[in-house]
Amino acid sequence: MEIRSMKIEDYDEIFSIWQITSKRALSEADSRENIERYLLRNKGMSLVALESGRIIGTVLAGHDGRRGFIHHMAVLPEYRRKHIGNALATEAIKKIAEDGIDKTHIFCYRDNLTGQGFWTSLGFKKRGDLFVYSK
Ligand SMILES: CC(C)(COP(=O)(O)OP(=O)(O)OC[C@H]1O[C@@H](n2cnc3c(N)ncnc32)[C@H](O)[C@@H]1OP(=O)(O)O)[C@@H](O)C(=O)NCCC(=O)NCCS
Repeated sequence: MEIRSMKIEDYDEIFSIWQITSKRALSEADSRENIERYLLRNKGMSLVALESGRIIGTVLAGHDGRRGFIHHMAVLPEYRRKHIGNALATEAIKKIAEDGIDKTHIFCYRDNLTGQGFWTSLGFKKRGDLFVYSK
């Protein structure tokens, strides 16, 4: 397994992974143009995991200048529970931290117990004091 930075040329492959792993989290924010802009604004922080040249995992990582954010943390079902997600998330958080950001937030659906178990295993604490408001 190899981890490298995500490139916009990966878009079709990563988008087809997200259709399997993250369908309800997808929106117009995930168009090719928007992902290209995201990668340009957060250079080198988003990552893919590869096995025999095939992308099997993704993480979108970046920050707004004061806090880090991670989206589309995903590993294809047949490669799960091999600590590939852990390796991707750990490396993404490291890259965010290298830019001087000491805290990273993630969003997780309330009924996504897999995601909750995963982020808890990485030391993330569930906040009970916040709602997410979107407009
Ligand atoms: C979440 C996801 C990325 C985890 O990827 P993964 O490569 O299987 O995760 P890892 O093997 O690195 O797991 C690390 C630890 O997370 C926890 N974990 C992982 N999957 C879990 C599950 N289904 N239930 C409970 N805990 C889980 C475990 O503590 C695990 O360590 P262990 O296997 O030694 O017990 C993967 O399940 C996935 O793509 N899910 C669909 C998309 C998604 O929900 N993403 C998260 C959005 S918030």
